[in-house]
Amino acid sequence: MDNPSPEFSDQFRAEFDQLLSWRRDVRTFKTDPLNQEIFECLLRETLTNSPSVGNSQPWRFVRISTPQTRQLIRNHVEFENKRSAQIYEGKTAEHYNRLKLHGLHTAPEQLAVFSAMNPNEGKGLGRQTMPQTPVWSTIMAIHTLWLKARALGIGLGWVSILQPQEMTAILDCPEDWQFIAYLCMGYPKEESQTPELVRENWQERLPMEKLILQK
Ligand SMILES: Cc1cc2nc3c(=O)[nH]c(=O)nc-3n(C[C@H](O)[C@H](O)[C@H](O)COP(=O)(O)O)c2cc1C
Repeated sequence: MDNPSPEFSDQFRAEFDQLLSWRRDVRTFKTDPLNQEIFECLLRETLTNSPSVGNSQPWRFVRISTPQTRQLIRNHVEFENKRSAQIYEGKTAEHYNRLKLHGLHTAPEQLAVFSAMNPNEGKGLGRQTMPQTPVWSTIMAIHTLWLKARALGIGLGWVSILQPQEMTAILDCPEDWQFIAYLCMGYPKEESQTPELVRENWQERLPMEKLILQK
């Protein structure tokens, strides 16, 4: 029997709004290790409670812990970061090069996230017209993890400056898993309510009239 469904209080709603507004992408971490019991519980709870197409649970989280594998991934990110910088010129190139775009050197926990693209689970339900739905499901799980981590005081930084095929090769993962994200996690060194790319004058938040349209 399920428990009776809870009624969320005004106080909870206010605190949930605070959680959303303090979530932040984190790139600067303390090196203090995370309590393993808490971290494993965070992963388990997140993955149990996230939504997925056909309840297929296509997310596959690979914990990256050996120094050798971390070094390989750092080298790859640094190489790709230099390549990405080449699309900018002049002052924008200088600005890009000043941005800190990952916390791979310090984050005590690191996860490579993949999506199984054709899992047996869910029996194909909901995937026939939109084959990308496993990817979207995996992204929902990442967002759930992001929020729950922040509620525990743990920061998360999403790194996308990588080549998916290279990640599959480095980690020797099945070809039908699509690489989605590299996540750095740990206690943040600094906290802010304002996104770092806003603070660094790279990109402002957009006004609502650009985002919510009426037809
Ligand atoms: C799909 C995706 C990819 C991202 N890739 C990177 C990245 O490679 N490096 C980085 O520093 N931040 C990355 N971010 C974080 C964004 O820069 C960040 O979410 C955005 O600037 C807004 O800031 P906030 O998350 O603190 O609100 C990524 C976020 C998403 C959702």
